[in-house]
Amino acid sequence: MWRLSASILLFSCLVLSSSSFGDSEVTCSGIVPLRYRNDKISITDFGGVGDGRTVNTKAFRAAMYRIQHLKRRGGTLLYIPPGVYLTESFNLTSHMTLYLARGAVIKAVQDTWNWPLIDHLPSYGRGRELPGGRYMSLIHGDGLRDVVITGQNGTIDGQGEVWWNLWRSRTLKYTRPNLIEFKNSKEIIISNVIFQNSPFWNIHPVYCSEVVIHHVTILAPQDSPNTDGIDPDSSVNVCIEDSYISTGDDLVAIKSGWDQYGIAYGRPSSNITIRRITGSSPFAGIAIGSETSGGIKNIVAEHITLSNMGVGVNIKTNIGRGGYIKNIRISNVYVDTAKYGIKIAGDTGDHPDANYNPNALPVVEGIHIKNVWGVNVRKAGSIQGLKGSPFTGICLSEINLHGSLNMYRTWKCADVIGTSMKVSPWPCSELRTSGGSNVCSSAF
Ligand SMILES: *[C@@H]1O[C@H](CO)[C@@H](O)[C@H](O)[C@H]1NC(C)=O
Ligand SMILES: *[C@@H]1O[C@H](CO)[C@@H](O)[C@H](O)[C@H]1NC(C)=O
Ligand SMILES: *[C@@H]1O[C@H](CO)[C@@H](O)[C@H](O)[C@H]1NC(C)=O
Repeated sequence: MWRLSASILLFSCLVLSSSSFGDSEVTCSGIVPLRYRNDKISITDFGGVGDGRTVNTKAFRAAMYRIQHLKRRGGTLLYIPPGVYLTESFNLTSHMTLYLARGAVIKAVQDTWNWPLIDHLPSYGRGRELPGGRYMSLIHGDGLRDVVITGQNGTIDGQGEVWWNLWRSRTLKYTRPNLIEFKNSKEIIISNVIFQNSPFWNIHPVYCSEVVIHHVTILAPQDSPNTDGIDPDSSVNVCIEDSYISTGDDLVAIKSGWDQYGIAYGRPSSNITIRRITGSSPFAGIAIGSETSGGIKNIVAEHITLSNMGVGVNIKTNIGRGGYIKNIRISNVYVDTAKYGIKIAGDTGDHPDANYNPNALPVVEGIHIKNVWGVNVRKAGSIQGLKGSPFTGICLSEINLHGSLNMYRTWKCADVIGTSMKVSPWPCSELRTSGGSNVCSSAF
């Protein structure tokens, strides 16, 4: 009991100190220092040709070899001039900036036959889509430090159509490649770049720390399968802000592995901030899960502007996941047109294999959602906890979700304990209505 109240007190203090800054001024661009690179090279120095036909894989690999082995003090900037640079996948190296000029395009070849395979992630136990290994991301970083991808809004184009079609025709052999993946890496900045048509998830930091992503644009067709925008996965100290994301799946989804593999690996996602994101998707704007086995805690999402959505805010986990979802604070969300405003679900039913432990129930506690305004929202909300592990500390305040159809306006709740204040339509009897003097309101 003492530990519980102490942690609540600590939590409130953290919140009070952070909210003493003016909202619009808050930014995390300074958290990972943007280093000036004295040493600059261009992809054209390595035979790169931006004619849209030449395959530049050798040029990219040679440039990386040069940066890695010459180890210039302060790192090296690799300049990509205007032009279309077709390439196969390549690895980045530490202490470098990949700088795309205005009009520079790094474009993936569409050769799915020769695409390199890499090991599955331990927290997934297999590829996310299919058993076995997985295709390497177009741009890959493993065990790196101090890497920047930036420029003047050049484009990284995955040409994902061939991969989407393999998925649609069920002829995919292994899990599709991400557009960019950083694994076991730290001090990463991604800014002022346009990502488009990723074969699978766009940006995937996994087992990373100190990752800042800002002023990016991520685009994929609404019907492109699994083209999540940004998926921080078993990563800590991540900040995503000031970006536009419109894809065929969740805009930002925080994950931490799944079922027995994720539980055994035990690597949480924590201290993640998502701020000033605008976008549109048939799935969720802000998603947590459903891969939550390593645990997900201390997440802040604020000033999120969404239109034409499947779900505004979607927190999802599963029986057999274990792990937890704790201390989640989501505020100032505007949703124009959505199937669901808010959805919190304990059993989404999706497993890597049949060997999950059905007794491994996730713990969901301390979810505070405040200031949500929705227009043309078909179903206001749904909170479905688990019988053996009810959701606790669920707190909703100042939420207005207006639908065009009255018949769907009610919330659906089960196995949930918490409070609500100024929520319209009225949520459910499980969330006792509060005048305001509760833990929830003091936490904001
Ligand atoms: C790129 O990195 C992956 C994973 O670390 C590794 O398996 C692969 O051999 C590397 N490829 C090249 C061309 O260095
Ligand atoms: C890149 O695009 C973003 C989003 O539109 C914008 O905020 C940013 O100022 C642009 N950056 C540059 C260098 O043009
Ligand atoms: C949380 O992450 C931010 C970067 O987004 C960092 O500045 C801060 O120090 C981190 N807090 C803790 C407790 O690690």
